[in-house]
Amino acid sequence: MLAQSVLITGAGRGVGLCLTKKLLELGFTVFAGCYRVEEHLKGLTASFPGLQIIPLDVTSDSSVLSAVDLVSKAAGGLDILINNAAVHLDTTMNLLEDVVLDDIPKTFAINTIGPLRVTKYFLPLLLQGAPKTIVNISSEAGSIGDCTRRGEYDYTMSKAALNMQSKILQNYLKPKGFKILALHPGWVRTDMGGPNADISPQESADGIIKLILRDWKPDDGIFFDYQGKELPW
Ligand SMILES: NC(=O)c1ccc[n+]([C@@H]2O[C@H](COP(=O)([O-])OP(=O)(O)OC[C@H]3O[C@@H](n4cnc5c(N)ncnc54)[C@H](OP(=O)(O)O)[C@@H]3O)[C@@H](O)[C@H]2O)c1
Repeated sequence: MLAQSVLITGAGRGVGLCLTKKLLELGFTVFAGCYRVEEHLKGLTASFPGLQIIPLDVTSDSSVLSAVDLVSKAAGGLDILINNAAVHLDTTMNLLEDVVLDDIPKTFAINTIGPLRVTKYFLPLLLQGAPKTIVNISSEAGSIGDCTRRGEYDYTMSKAALNMQSKILQNYLKPKGFKILALHPGWVRTDMGGPNADISPQESADGIIKLILRDWKPDDGIFFDYQGKELPW
């Protein structure tokens, strides 16, 4: 049997880099979508022939279509897509009086429209794969039910909208045998999560991979944390 293939966006650092390493160790063929930072990935190519680094800006049609072309030529299909790339801008924590409205579309372009663009263009390859899994890395910040925040507008709104996207995709793609997951990776010690966060990227990636590889039924839930706890929308 051929190794299962997975594409990860934002694979150059943080949670995406850890997911890449761990999936390679498990024998997956990993297409590691890289935006700017790629030196950590380059160090892995000698040990893992199953690694292919792919330039990928999730805000650009032409970049995503080039990535589709590369994956199509290399594998002919794709089994798992992990939409992991996201930003949390410096201005995100501003309260209402200081909200920078012009930053909101920037965040949505990467965190919300980016995953939809990648899913849209990779759909033909995913239809050739199995188990046809799409994982949107969301956040507890996207939960409206659990929200006690007084700010952080653009990031939280972008993840709430990503959750809606995940639900619509599940409705649409379930008859074609897909499983969609929206996963909160925990509060993780990455550039985004900062040094005081709860867990290491390794711990987060372990939990996410365990969930991805679970034997999902189409009617199972969608929105979970990295430990498998279902979260309120
Ligand atoms: N860390 C946390 O505590 C936490 C909590 C909840 C949810 N999350 C979610 O978990 C995921 C991973 O977060 P992280 O902590 O690993 O973040 P991170 O360390 O800041 O890494 C973000 C990744 O996204 C990539 N990226 C940014 N803009 C991009 C674009 N236009 N196209 C493609 N890739 C782009 C970055 O690429 P470059 O390196 O090239 O810039 C980087 O690889 C995100 O979806 C985040 O929202 C994180």
